[in-house]
Amino acid sequence: MPVYNLKVNGKNHRIEADEQMPLLWVIRDLVGLTGTKYGCGIGQCGACTIHLGGSPVRSCSFPVSAVADQAVTTIEGISADNSHPVQIAWIAEQVPQCGYCQSGQIMSAVALLQANKNPTDQDINDAMQGNICRCGTYPRIRKAIKSAAINSKSPQNGR
Ligand code: FES
Ligand code: FES
Repeated sequence: MPVYNLKVNGKNHRIEADEQMPLLWVIRDLVGLTGTKYGCGIGQCGACTIHLGGSPVRSCSFPVSAVADQAVTTIEGISADNSHPVQIAWIAEQVPQCGYCQSGQIMSAVALLQANKNPTDQDINDAMQGNICRCGTYPRIRKAIKSAAINSKSPQNGR
């Protein structure tokens, strides 16, 4: 089986896997990071969202052979202690209900705020439309993204 050298959350991992193995299973089963969730498995729900080279990607539909030298970031990698402004806002607004979709939601929100520091409702709707929440937490997600945008701009927070 082919061997891949993946950088996941800043750490190097030597992985032996079939070239078609979805990155989701590499992350969960071979690297052992279970914060990234399996929802639909067909790129439709966003539960498995991670960042590849800084951009959000559906890891259930992304073969490990296509990662190349791009850095992989999972929910475990955005902060060591839940101190990312998006995590702080998620907790403050009590966004999660069952929580299953939320690591994917957070990864999409982090990518949105990296690209757009001041998103409008429409920007948020557009960026988050591929992340499905069965519990209907969308209003709290929008509120948390807005509050994270404001907090990210404060001088105390350099992120
Ligand atoms: S599990 Fe990947 S998009 Fe649904
Ligand atoms: S919080 Fe339950 S699916 Fe989103």
